[in-house]
Parts: sequence; structure tokens; C-alpha cells
Amino acid sequence: MTEPQRAPLTRVCVLVPTYDERENLPRIVARLRAAVPDADVLVLDDASPDGTGDVADRLAAADDAVHVLHRTGKQGLGAAYLAGFAWALERGYDAAVEIDADGSHQPETLPGLLRAARDADVVIGSRWVPGGSVVNWPSHRKALSVGANLYTRVLLGMPVSDATAGFRVYRADALRRLGLATIDSQGYCFQVEMTWRAVKAGLHVVEVPIEFVEREIGRSKMNGDIVAESLRRITGWGVKHRWSEVRRGVADGVGAGEGTWHRL
Ligand code: GDD
Ligand code: MN
Repeated sequence: MTEPQRAPLTRVCVLVPTYDERENLPRIVARLRAAVPDADVLVLDDASPDGTGDVADRLAAADDAVHVLHRTGKQGLGAAYLAGFAWALERGYDAAVEIDADGSHQPETLPGLLRAARDADVVIGSRWVPGGSVVNWPSHRKALSVGANLYTRVLLGMPVSDATAGFRVYRADALRRLGLATIDSQGYCFQVEMTWRAVKAGLHVVEVPIEFVEREIGRSKMNGDIVAESLRRITGWGVKHRWSEVRRGVADGVGAGEGTWHRL
């Protein structure tokens, strides 16, 4: 199938959310500047107690392509990214990239994701497609990610293998179609909500295999609240989605074997 011609991506903004990533930030910014020299970088810091915000200010002072958004406190990954998308859209960027600050997502592979975005609205760097992998993750984290993606697929029926992934490219015009103002996921569930919105909006979502490497410095901010929020929200979207399928199936006439009833 030939995709419609999409506008070239010339101005790209890489969003780097940080909470206590003082040691990781200079490394990821240097790697990004080397791997994608034409892209700008925006650090989204939630007033990290370890002084990451000051590190970000120093990096921004030394390089015109690096910017910082200081936020008032820890409000979650979703809120940080929404502020970053608004910043990038206001300034006319063609695309916004999401990447973790801790080195789990390798900037050297970003050119490949951006290439894929020539023919896609959203590109997901995926651990769970052939060729994708996870290095040094404890088995409970692997199980959590596989389980979350399985649960998401069963409930939402999305043709996406890594809906929780945090290494992505969004075209600006795709972001404008996602209704960002009404997104309310706070934690990592934000990634699933964005994926779900993109699929429902009929956007062309492409997964590119990546190698995810567990961080060597600092600690993950994953916690029980983040898992609980994901479970609660994904279940809510799933019930609503499946119920709408049932209603559509009834309206279409189940006996005729048409509609979506049979897929339940
Ligand atoms: N500004 C801000 N505010 N940044 C945050 C917050 C927050 O509340 N919480 C986390 N971050 C930043 C971290 O500093 C890091 O740069 C990035 O978000 C990812 O956080 P980690 O804590 O390292 O995530 P993880 O390794 O446990 O989780 C990975 O897997 C998740 C599930 O697949 C990431 O790739 C997530 O993006 C992904 O959803
Ligand atoms: Mn991490």
C-alpha cells in the first residue's frame, strides 16, 4: 500500500524528561547532539531534588540547540511530555521525539526512527517486535512489560506490540490530531493512552525494533502507583471499547455474521 506523501521533517525537537538524572543528562545530551546534530533538545525537568535542573541550565547555556523547561514539581511523565509537546508545537517544529534520559534508548538509533517517520505519523521504537530486545532488565520488569502489553492488546485490540514504549517520533500534525488537551494519564500509562488515541484517530503507526538497555546510573521511577494507574485506565478504555463493539455488533445484526461481534 502506498502511503500519501508526507512533508519532510526538517525541524525536530527531542524531548528529554528528567527526574533525578544529574549524571545521565550530560551524557544523553552529548549523544543526541552527535547522533542528530540538526535536532534541538528540550529537557523537561520536574524540579529534581538532585540538581538536574542546574545541570540542564549549564548545558543550555553552552549550546543554542539545547533548551530547558523547568517545572514546579514531580507531576509525572505524561504531564512533562504534554508540556514539551505544547512547547514544540508553539515553536513550529515538524516533529517531537520522546526519549528517556537514562541511556535506555540509544540516540544513535534515532536517525533510523526519523527515517521511518518519512512514511508514518507515529514511529515507536519497539522492544517486542522481531529484532527488538531488552538488555539487563530484571525478569520482573520484563514480565511487567510483556504482561502490560498483552493486557493492552487483549482489551484494546491494538495492532501494536510495544504500546508502553518510551522512544518515539510524533509528527507535529499527528500530535495536533490527538486531542492532547484531554489526555489525563500521569505516569507511564501516558504512552498507552497516546498509542490508543493514535490508533483510534486512524494514524499510521509504525514500530521499529530497538535494543533497550537498562540504565547503569540512577534509579527507575517506576512504582506501584504507576502500575495501578495503568491497570485502572487500560481496563476502563478496554471495557468502553469492547462494549461499543458489542453495541455495534447488535446494531449490525449479529445473526448476519457481519460487524465486529464475531471478533469478541
Ligand atoms: N519530568 C519528569 N517527571 N520525568 C520523569 C518522571 C516525572 O515524574 N518520571 C520519570 N521521568 C523520566 C526519568 O527521569 C527518565 O528520563 C524517563 O522519564 C524514564 O523513567 P525511568 O524511571 O527510567 O523509566 P523505566 O526505565 O522504569 O521505564 C521505561 O519503561 C516504561 C515501560 O515500558 C521507560 O522506557 C518508560 O518510558 C516506559 O513507559
Ligand atoms: Mn529507565
